[in-house]
Amino acid sequence: MRIKAIGRLMRDLSGQLAFITGGASGAGLGQARVFGRAGAKICIADIRSDAIGRAVAKLKAEGIEVHGLQFDIMDRTAYAKAADEVEAVFGMPPTIVSNTAGVNSFGPIEHTTFDDFDWLIGVNLGGVVNGCVTFIPRMIASGRPGHIVTVSSIGGFQGSALAGPYAAAKAATINLMEGYRQGLAKYDIGVSVCTPANINSNIAEASKLRPAHLAASGYVEDAQAIASLQSIHQHGMDPDQLAQTILEGIRANAAYIIPYPEVREGLEKRFAQILSAVPSVETDPDGSKCRSDALRNWVAGRARALSRNEGG
Ligand code: NAI
Repeated sequence: MRIKAIGRLMRDLSGQLAFITGGASGAGLGQARVFGRAGAKICIADIRSDAIGRAVAKLKAEGIEVHGLQFDIMDRTAYAKAADEVEAVFGMPPTIVSNTAGVNSFGPIEHTTFDDFDWLIGVNLGGVVNGCVTFIPRMIASGRPGHIVTVSSIGGFQGSALAGPYAAAKAATINLMEGYRQGLAKYDIGVSVCTPANINSNIAEASKLRPAHLAASGYVEDAQAIASLQSIHQHGMDPDQLAQTILEGIRANAAYIIPYPEVREGLEKRFAQILSAVPSVETDPDGSKCRSDALRNWVAGRARALSRNEGG
């Protein structure tokens, strides 16, 4: 399906209000700095109040107008209260929402417990859903052009026996952003998904943020596991460098933001493998045409019905 280009690109960040989850650390804090330096007002939301305090102090010292909000993005009531607070403080809903907060944990997929699934999918997918459902109606009602960006992961393009729930949640957020991108263009709200490969951040310590009621893990999350993850992430992309590419992606309303050349070969293999499962049209031209026509007609009919319901 062709996606209508949005009318007004968000080229200038002055006057914009960016709400960034996970904004107290890593990729979220990088965006707070880079978007703030570009002239946006900043709201950082995070589960860790101490880290918010440190981040707010640093951002303010740079002259960035910033407000910190402490809550768990899995908590829908807290999310709605946070959105009310943003409007009370800034007099408007955010024009940029960055769903960046995320957690990971690694272990054999066959040992994954319900608590592992509920925490990893709850934060990495549920938190994004909560951000979208909370803010998108407010953004539409404001009538301002806007942008939603979600920080997914390159891991979202491929299942993983060591990061099953994380990769599944990240796959779902890529898919969800593709859907919102189609649906929100008519409101001049752009949508991008960023799929990093490695960031120099604090994510190795994510297991410390696990809530007590979801503590029953099938994985080993000890000091050694944290140190081994840190040995990778210390070589990750600088969060400000990543944030700069995210900003360029927002300005261009890019569908995908993937500033990691080393992932190209893997993605090529992955998509070639998927395509190799698809026979050519010549193997079933009549059936293929009949099914395609039926789908196209159904989509066109739904679009007409929706536009009638919306009075369009
Ligand atoms: P980070 O740990 O430095 O920052 C994540 C922030 O999210 C932390 O400040 C944490 O307190 C916050 N957070 C975690 N759970 C939360 C919750 N339930 N509610 C509110 N805040 C919560 O990690 P990083 O690397 O900056 O992570 C940002 C995003 O990048 C995540 O979505 C992660 O999955 C993704 N990513 C990271 C990669 C990496 O190599 N570090 C690679 C690919 C994707």
